[in-house]
Amino acid sequence: MKKTILCIGAGYVGGPTMAVIADKCPDYKVIVVDVNEKRIKAWQSDELPIYEPGLDEVVRRARGRNLFFSTDVVAGIKEAGIIFVSVNTPTKTFGAGAGKAADLQYWEKTARDIIEHSGHDKIVVEKSTLPVRTAEAMRRILESNTKGLNFDIISNPEFMAEGTAVGDLQHPDRVLIGALETPSGQKALQAIKDIYLNWVPEERIKTTNLWSSELTKLVSNAMLAQRISSVNSISALCEKTDANILEVSSAMGLDSRIGPKFLRASIGFGGSCFKKDILNLVYLCEFYGLPEVAAYWEQVVKINDYQAERFVRKILMNMFNSVAGKKIAVFGFAFKADTGDTRESPAITVSKMLLEERAVLSIHDPKALENARLDLADCPGEISYHEDPYEAAAGTHAILVLTEWKQFRDYDYRKIFEVMEKPAFIFDGRNILDHRALFEQGFNVYPLGQREYSHLT
Ligand code: NAD
Ligand code: UDX
Repeated sequence: MKKTILCIGAGYVGGPTMAVIADKCPDYKVIVVDVNEKRIKAWQSDELPIYEPGLDEVVRRARGRNLFFSTDVVAGIKEAGIIFVSVNTPTKTFGAGAGKAADLQYWEKTARDIIEHSGHDKIVVEKSTLPVRTAEAMRRILESNTKGLNFDIISNPEFMAEGTAVGDLQHPDRVLIGALETPSGQKALQAIKDIYLNWVPEERIKTTNLWSSELTKLVSNAMLAQRISSVNSISALCEKTDANILEVSSAMGLDSRIGPKFLRASIGFGGSCFKKDILNLVYLCEFYGLPEVAAYWEQVVKINDYQAERFVRKILMNMFNSVAGKKIAVFGFAFKADTGDTRESPAITVSKMLLEERAVLSIHDPKALENARLDLADCPGEISYHEDPYEAAAGTHAILVLTEWKQFRDYDYRKIFEVMEKPAFIFDGRNILDHRALFEQGFNVYPLGQREYSHLT
């Protein structure tokens, strides 16, 4: 093997990223470690800990050949010359910056583990999303080693999205690598670039200074989320004016300067990244004395909260101002299609608000039921979970579409209509169903940012 790469953190990013690196670079040994024993056992088994289309095949090809999963963090650190750190960096829930700043405790712990167990010089790669200038803190901690070792710090943020992670990793729009502009920093940058050059065309590898790379990651997520909040805010205006958000988005997206992607109105963005990273950006702006800039970005999160609340208000208003005791089916609990991940899913907010209104929930999702159970475990109220959509719909007054799973389009809504209470409602929080056809089958249909189809007026 040419080199040994270690990745600390075997989560949604560490697992798939390293599996693709191992697959594409058979002459590198890739070890992925985690303190979570259950997760590592799952990575070693046929039942991977995360659902990601195409991931099983990639892992199967490389595992045991040059891809290894282990809980032995110390042995990994000792062996590897390049260490990717892909631990979680959640929003801080305590102390200074609570609710906005990134909680860097897991990150700092890995830096200390690296110092303690390293016997030779290493390149340490920030794969986690971090506040700008974290590398400076990392450098100070690593340079405090008394063994005379040299650590080069590289920023190489990850841009994959869940549900399309394997494709995103195999064919990235760009790979970003940031390094200090010193001879040693540039040498380390080249070592990381050499890994990606195994499958990524050189023109897609963008190199910058460390701080630009760290900040680009936060800003990329903020810009993407901002598009969704922009379009969601306009969906509210469409509902007041008989404009149609699908028509507005597609006509607007034809402008090549705007482009067609990420303009789908929804009940709001979820996922572990957008909210956390924007709030982190807001915190940084406040920290650096830029309150106007902070307020600008914070509004993206506020509109996202507003959109989910607005959706629930619409449900209440149209269901005669009360859902107490009414059974409501939730179709889709994952934060987006093709994943079982429910972190920050708008379905959690909507479900909790409806439970507060004393609705009875019947939840259906192709991949996220296990996580949904955990998310709602402490919520008072009556909740049932169903693999089968028809079973979930039985006896309900309304169906809420909260995730854009493709198969939801193919369900037999005549059959569903028959087993529901009447009047039967559908609130399509993702605009994926055929609203007119459903109306003709007897449903009262409420899309987002489009005209409603109601038999009740
Ligand atoms: P995750 O929670 O799924 O995984 C992180 C893993 O790190 C956990 O399994 C945890 O046990 C492990 N860990 C924590 N401290 C450790 C330590 N000291 N030693 C060994 N293992 C340790 O998180 P994730 O979704 O993979 O995200 C990781 C980072 O990547 C975050 O900074 C996130 O913002 C960023 N990111 C995530 C995505 C995404 O789609 N999920 C995309 C791009 C970037
Ligand atoms: C995001 C970024 O896209 C990715 O580059 C980064 O590395 C991690 O964060 P992810 O959160 O996995 O990825 O999924 P993404 O496809 O961005 O969707 C995020 C949320 O926005 C989902 O809830 C999705 O349903 C929602 N969304 C997306 C919309 O509501 N409308 C859209 O047009 C696009």
